[in-house]
Amino acid sequence: MTRAGALYGIGIGPGDPELITLKAARLIGAAPVVAYFARRDAKGNARAIAEAHLRADAEELRLEYPYTTEIPRESEAYIRAMQTFYDMAAERIAAQLSAGRDVAVLCEGDPFLYGSFMYLFDRLRGRFAVDVVPGVTGMSGCWSRAGTPMTRDIDTLTVVPATLDSQRLADMLGMADAAVVMKVGRHLGRLREVLRRLGRLDDAVYVERGTMACERVVPLAELDAAEAPYFSLVLLPAVRRAP
Ligand SMILES: C[S@@+](CC[C@H](N)C(=O)[O-])C[C@H]1O[C@@H](n2cnc3c(N)ncnc32)[C@H](O)[C@@H]1O
Repeated sequence: MTRAGALYGIGIGPGDPELITLKAARLIGAAPVVAYFARRDAKGNARAIAEAHLRADAEELRLEYPYTTEIPRESEAYIRAMQTFYDMAAERIAAQLSAGRDVAVLCEGDPFLYGSFMYLFDRLRGRFAVDVVPGVTGMSGCWSRAGTPMTRDIDTLTVVPATLDSQRLADMLGMADAAVVMKVGRHLGRLREVLRRLGRLDDAVYVERGTMACERVVPLAELDAAEAPYFSLVLLPAVRRAP
């Protein structure tokens, strides 16, 4: 009987290919099958970041999202389409694993921080050996590049998606010493307004495509845009305290 392959969820960091760990590079270079998520209209950011490490003969499984922002995430149609998509993606990977081939799934940042890989993990972990390789997160790449120390001593760090409704966003950010707001996208204006009402707009730093070649770092209060691209987040550092 063929021995089943192993599934690797591999964090490849926030964008700068030099921020891929040695372990990630080794496992990607050894994998006969490499899978990655991509928007329908895009090349696949994760693949581009890890490109130099792929085996020349690696089989590639491109997992194309049916939707990204086209229809509301709460809608039944979106939820149903995404469940079917993840079921089918998991079965494509399962077929490779059952045939004895290891599969490396490339994950932007860290696989277990808002990563699509988790939906594959949920579906496959009882059936196959799964190994998760941590990655440098988008937020740590961004605060390093922005030169924004975040937490000291007993400061707390809150991480929230901008997709929360404004009241919950205000409640969470209102309690936070330091915060990171992910998935800014079309919620940029609403987020700006919440931070202004909390009196923290002037502390906030916007980072777009942090650590990538086209990176942009701007005080949020000075950002003249209605929407932000997918790879953007807002940093709210804790107020500096002694020593
Ligand atoms: C689906 S989450 C994936 C997060 C990823 N697993 C991580 O560990 O950072 C995508 C969100 O992460 C943030 N993000 C990830 N990498 C980023 C980068 N290089 N620059 C700015 N934001 C980034 C953005 O807010 C983006 O909308």
